[in-house]
Amino acid sequence: MNCMKLRAFAALLAAITLVSAQTIEPGRLATMIEALTRLGPEKVNANPKLQEALGKVLAATRGTPQFVKLVEEFQMKGQNAGLLEVALKLPADEAGVAAMRLVLAANEPKLIAAALAGTNAPALAQVLGNTADKRVVPLLLPILADAKGEAALRKAVVRALAQTQEGATELLRLAREEKLGSDVKFVAGAELNAVRWLAIKAEAAKLLPPPAGQNDKPLPPVAELLKMKSDAKNGETVYFRESVGCGKCHQVNGKGTDFGPALSEIGSKLGKDALLESILDPSAGVSFGYEAWSVELKNGDELFGLVVSDAADELALKAVGGVVTRVKKSDIAKRAQSKLSVMPAGLAQTMTVQELVDLLEFLSTLKKK
Ligand code: HEC
Repeated sequence: MNCMKLRAFAALLAAITLVSAQTIEPGRLATMIEALTRLGPEKVNANPKLQEALGKVLAATRGTPQFVKLVEEFQMKGQNAGLLEVALKLPADEAGVAAMRLVLAANEPKLIAAALAGTNAPALAQVLGNTADKRVVPLLLPILADAKGEAALRKAVVRALAQTQEGATELLRLAREEKLGSDVKFVAGAELNAVRWLAIKAEAAKLLPPPAGQNDKPLPPVAELLKMKSDAKNGETVYFRESVGCGKCHQVNGKGTDFGPALSEIGSKLGKDALLESILDPSAGVSFGYEAWSVELKNGDELFGLVVSDAADELALKAVGGVVTRVKKSDIAKRAQSKLSVMPAGLAQTMTVQELVDLLEFLSTLKKK
């Protein structure tokens, strides 16, 4: 045992004499976590005093990302309630999604079904979708069958289902059989028209076309577009509109989701014609470092997104929505770079010609300060 470890160990033993988890002060908590982590699951699980310390640390970190890390690291069973708590609190964060995956792995569908009937159900649907795990499909589908259910929940369920090919296929089937409620039709259309599975996307364009009044005519020539009057303020509204979704992937001055490149200074980088091309044909020139990868795991799960780190034993992938998933390299069956950009083609179809012109104006005002 090296010197650091010894000191940490001594601090830890001093710390476990504390009366209750609530009284552990933050500095000491960090030391305890470090000491336990250094000792590792084997030593800790073999020693009742250390197990007691772990229990206290767990209680003190409840509801936080650290709790999830500890449960994962020490392979603790029976922590589903605590994990679910983090998942509901952070449904779009790495920690929340990791927590949800641990609950799914524990294979207790009844626990999840009960939570889906609770008040936090929309957040639960969101985090279930973010796991991109096909096992969530049968858990979520019944909610769409109940037309009287809460609209916020039903919409969250549609968004969650659209995150796996199996779920998207089910949504499409419901649309085809005219069993999709009118409250969720619009969201389903927006989601399915933007999925990466081309056959699903093509059928969605026919079954759930973008609402009338949008842009179904061929665009006027670029020179003509660029001469039209434009309104940057309205362009900003279009940018953040749900059905257009630029803000779901690009931040502008800190607003929006951090997934694709930030566009806060895009007006200094690209002229309006190049901006237009990025929107009409994203796959024509994929920005370096933003190539899409699909990764197939040995258990059959599929991940899709941008590679954010590629270490010797671990790959981290950021999915649309910004959630990062870390997988062990030994769990990967296959990985392949996609020829297509993660940015969906056809976004111009979700807006009128005037809105497209306004959007270009807004983007071109985003200059280096
Ligand atoms: C699903 C996520 C997603 C959505 C939605 C999306 N984008 Fe993108 N976008 C990306 C990614 C990823 C890249 C980088 C890869 C590439 O260049 O294709 C990108 C690239 C771009 C670029 C080029 C950036 C550069 O630095 O060269 C522009 C401009 C852009 N997007 C604008 C938009 C606009 C405007 C919208 C809304 C109409 C939009 N994007 C919607 C993911 C998205």
